[in-house]
Amino acid sequence: MSVEAAPSSASASDESTALAARLLAEKTAALARLAAGIAHELRNPLAVILARVQLLEIAMKGGKPLPPGKLEMTLRTVGEQAVRASKIIESLSIFARPRSPELTSVDLAETIGHVLSDVRAHMPEDRTVTTDVDVAPEVHTVVADNVQLMTALRQLTINALQAMPDGGRLWIRARGREGSVEVMVGDTGSGVAPHDAPRIFDPFFSTKPSGAGLGLCVAQTIAEAHGGSVRLVASGGPGAEFVLSLPTRWRVP
Ligand SMILES: Nc1ncnc2c1ncn2[C@@H]1O[C@H](COP(=O)(O)OP(=O)(O)OP(=O)(O)O)[C@@H](O)[C@H]1O
Ligand SMILES: [Mg+2]
Repeated sequence: MSVEAAPSSASASDESTALAARLLAEKTAALARLAAGIAHELRNPLAVILARVQLLEIAMKGGKPLPPGKLEMTLRTVGEQAVRASKIIESLSIFARPRSPELTSVDLAETIGHVLSDVRAHMPEDRTVTTDVDVAPEVHTVVADNVQLMTALRQLTINALQAMPDGGRLWIRARGREGSVEVMVGDTGSGVAPHDAPRIFDPFFSTKPSGAGLGLCVAQTIAEAHGGSVRLVASGGPGAEFVLSLPTRWRVP
């Protein structure tokens, strides 16, 4: 009869110490990458702001103020870059303090209504965007974290409106599908270029002057915390459509 030697408790504890050390090293490396990314991303807008402010200072001191058109452009750039820097910091707080979703019953049509009025209040008024909201009866009430759901939908809706500077059509449709709720947010805007599509969910990827490139990342983090996802489902143009999918119980009315 052969008896296999059981691992000694000393070697088992060595293994778990090695595993803990490896996990810590991986975590530290991920943190270092994130910190380097943030430093890099904040350095750019701050450098632009500093350069523009110095330009204004030199012009003022030299008694040659910038002509109104150039002054306006300089101030716009300073504003855009300040917005970009503050968005990076705001969005990071979502990653820095991730919290588990607090699940409650959510009236989906009401939530979408709040998101739309909030987003539209912050967009320029002179554009003509028609809005089409359709919530299927089976997902009228869903179980989710309402605050997080609003944050995720706000990011998709802002992106849709930003893609239509000259107006267009925005739709938000919700359907139940095999135990999950799917919220489609679509627009008739510029669409996503095929070479950008693989990168749009990367942190800090943006094609906008004041974009931090974190909106989709925030929406995806929230969806994943619910066990769901955000996907780009149509981008061939005109426009784009994203689907936020959350596994959730939904009630038949
Ligand atoms: N509806 C859309 N239509 C066209 N392009 C889009 C759409 N949504 C996202 N994108 C593309 O994906 C990129 C990343 O979007 P994301 O929301 O992560 O960042 P952002 O909008 O650029 O900046 P932020 O959301 O941080 O202000 C955008 O810059 C844009 O190129
Ligand atoms: Mg965005």
